[in-house]
Amino acid sequence: MIDPAETAAAHETLDPTDLEGLRTLAHRMVDDAFDDLARLPERPVWRPMPEDLAPRFETPAPRTGVGAEAAYGQYRSQVVPYLMGNDHPRFWGWYVGNGTMVGALGAFLAAASNPNLGGGNHAAVRVEQQVLRWCAELLGFPLDAGGLMVGGASMANLVGWTVARHVHAGVDVRAEGIAAIPEPLVAYASVEVHSCHQRSAELLGLGAHALRLIPTDDAYRIDLAALRRAVHEDRAAGRKPFLVIGNAGTINTGAIDDLDAIADLCAEERLRFHVDGAIGAMIGLAPALAPLLRGIERADSIALDLHKWMHVPFEAGLVLVRDAAAQRATFETSPAYLAHAPRGLAGGATWLTDFGLETSRDFKALKVWLSWMDRGVDAYGRMMQRNVDQAHHLAARVEREPLLELMAPVGLDIVCFRVHPEGWSEERLDALNRELLMRVHESGVAVPSYTTLDGKYCLRVAIGNHRSTFEDFDVFVDALLKMADEVEA
Ligand SMILES: Cc1ncc(COP(=O)(O)O)c(C=O)c1O
Repeated sequence: MIDPAETAAAHETLDPTDLEGLRTLAHRMVDDAFDDLARLPERPVWRPMPEDLAPRFETPAPRTGVGAEAAYGQYRSQVVPYLMGNDHPRFWGWYVGNGTMVGALGAFLAAASNPNLGGGNHAAVRVEQQVLRWCAELLGFPLDAGGLMVGGASMANLVGWTVARHVHAGVDVRAEGIAAIPEPLVAYASVEVHSCHQRSAELLGLGAHALRLIPTDDAYRIDLAALRRAVHEDRAAGRKPFLVIGNAGTINTGAIDDLDAIADLCAEERLRFHVDGAIGAMIGLAPALAPLLRGIERADSIALDLHKWMHVPFEAGLVLVRDAAAQRATFETSPAYLAHAPRGLAGGATWLTDFGLETSRDFKALKVWLSWMDRGVDAYGRMMQRNVDQAHHLAARVEREPLLELMAPVGLDIVCFRVHPEGWSEERLDALNRELLMRVHESGVAVPSYTTLDGKYCLRVAIGNHRSTFEDFDVFVDALLKMADEVEA
């Protein structure tokens, strides 16, 4: 009879059979990543994946492996050339960061040791708590504030909303549900607020209409008089205003609401004040920009996205909640299998799972921790200031070019403009600029993105790039003007 303990299956693990071989491959991966970084500017920002590669991504699940070396070969040849391109100096699309090599190494180390930060008494939890405390310190928040790292600002904002609903529901909403809330809850933000807030209102059962979208002034900041009027009207109609969201950098134009004035209004009207700082919460690191954020320190909660202007590799969202007890009361559950012990690995006063939706949580704090320890946070402030200066450099060029039209005041590092040949109808301008956007992308010269402002389609350069040089913007404008000539002709 065969002894089961002697069969290969009894000893199989997922560790490499050839440890030294994998070590060599790992070194090659690191070398390739560094070589790619050195050659970044020579590469097109983006290129489409050839159609004939598509079938390679439709094959059945591999029942037997081909080995790490072959898998990596396929990744290098079939995936790497067609990635998003947001590591490139001329990527200015949507609002995504570049990442950094130290951050990438942090992501690798986090995965290599693979702790779960849902709970327990271990060092990785301390690292996340330290990152949270650093953010609180940099934003002028109390150091004992609650907080959590999450995937991104959509989730960070949802946490802020959920705590607000819990605090203001007027009933035990966790037990009774929203049907028991006596007066419908209403939240407020400017029309420029990110669409993830609508999803928060929907997910929390309040409905999208519970988020009132307030008009803005010419600089795309919330109109405070209109906000106050809306609060009073809702209250008079028997609804319960509970939350105002202030923007610290809107997605369209980078506008920053008057956060101090919103804090005053919230104090007077007894409303909760949440700041969506996905783009701009950290601009205080640039001394000249810091005054724009005045009042952020008075918020009840703040959402940040460290994978945007702080360039931590995805994902690195973060939320701070002034009142840690309220955050905990919103989410904490106490099943027997997650009970905290007085000592041992199940010890530890703070289990981060009690502060949000997720039980299993990765060690995303490490890439932040290593990055900030490496360069110091002031370096990020210098990059932000340079991006803001570059935005003004680009806007000045746009204003000098007869064919270009600036579409909004420059907010932080975002420039919205369009190509505008004289005498063209709005319809033709729309079609022209849409075509040019695609041509610019397909040329590989740059990746700007797009938006619609006051019903007009425009190109949108959201810089957030620590690798862009001033010349990069001229390269882009020169190429755009050339393409505009071709399309016009
Ligand atoms: C102001 C603002 N809020 C929220 C979000 C959503 O963030 P995420 O994509 O990280 O979920 C974004 C994304 O661009 C944003 O700019």
